[in-house]
Amino acid sequence: MTKTEVGIGIIGLGFVGEKAHLSAFRRILGSRLVAIADVDQKRLQKAADKSKIKSVYSTHEDLINDPNVGAVVISVPTFLHKKIAIDALKAGKHVLCEMPLAPNMKDAQEIVDEAKKAGVILMPSLNFRFTPNYVKTKELIDKGSIGKPAAIFYREFIPAVDLARQWPPTSWAWNKEKSGGGPAFTLSVWSIDLLRWLLNAEVRKVHAVSKDTILQELGGTNGYASLAVLEFSNNTVVTLEFSGLVRHAMSMVRLEVLGDNTNSILSEENDRVTLFGSDPQKQMWIFRESGAKVWGHYQEDEHFIQSILQNKQPDITTDDALKAQEVATKILETSK
Ligand SMILES: NC(=O)c1ccc[n+]([C@@H]2O[C@H](COP(=O)([O-])OP(=O)(O)OC[C@H]3O[C@@H](n4cnc5c(N)ncnc54)[C@H](O)[C@@H]3O)[C@@H](O)[C@H]2O)c1
Repeated sequence: MTKTEVGIGIIGLGFVGEKAHLSAFRRILGSRLVAIADVDQKRLQKAADKSKIKSVYSTHEDLINDPNVGAVVISVPTFLHKKIAIDALKAGKHVLCEMPLAPNMKDAQEIVDEAKKAGVILMPSLNFRFTPNYVKTKELIDKGSIGKPAAIFYREFIPAVDLARQWPPTSWAWNKEKSGGGPAFTLSVWSIDLLRWLLNAEVRKVHAVSKDTILQELGGTNGYASLAVLEFSNNTVVTLEFSGLVRHAMSMVRLEVLGDNTNSILSEENDRVTLFGSDPQKQMWIFRESGAKVWGHYQEDEHFIQSILQNKQPDITTDDALKAQEVATKILETSK
């Protein structure tokens, strides 16, 4: 009999588990959100009340053992992914795992190896590939609107006060052993994957520098600044700039793609794409989605479900996850 619905269990209801995946899976056709788990009882109860879910668990093992759960989303801190992913895969559950897969390459590879043995889907959460403005950017590049991409500039500035609220200074996210290298490492995997996807090319060279500035007035939050220069196998040169050292007014996400015909694409704030071409009228596309749809998690979760229902591997592979994480590791190592 063909499967028509997948029972979903979400493990970890922090920022990305609650705001992105929980909110998306309440509405995705072909899936039924059947269970949630978190070690934080308050968060668990709040999410259960909001989503009207009856099966709530304080351990991942109990959620995985729930026979109604066919697939799990792992959105716990990075250092906990491996144990939970391997338990889920061994139990024959499909897994959508947040990124980075693990704080180090060895653990990430072990998760991938286990998925191969288990013969179920392990999809990395690389949601930038589904973000509407990046989908538009790729479409413009692929149809030759800017000739061939010659250079890309990417900048992501996050307000320090938001980071301190989401990840207080004692959080796992600032601990290298637990996160793999702090927010700059954690947050760079999505843009690295985005670049590989936009360019259909691999990173050939990496050079990076970084500076940490401890912000005492925010309880010791690290106002990181990390600058990387990448060279791709198709000769495109790229700069990546990440910082958590700004106020709200300087918050920005900006991608500039310069083509070899002097046309360029500017993608801003996840909701606008502009093509600067030879025509005096620039062309602009505005995306009015919000939350999980503008970040791409909704579309990513939908793709995960469709891959399970159609019994095919997702377009985003575990190899993509390992490659993004490998480059993020190089950025970290070369900036020491
Ligand atoms: N895709 C994205 O856009 C995106 C953005 C930020 C973070 N992330 C990734 O998502 C993961 C989670 O990040 P976050 O910012 O949401 O973290 P967070 O600290 O906000 O939330 C983690 C949640 O997991 C819970 N938890 C901890 N241990 C648990 C356990 N053993 N079992 C069940 N629940 C447990 C915590 O109580 C908390 O609610 C990380 O791997 C991070 O790198 C992804």
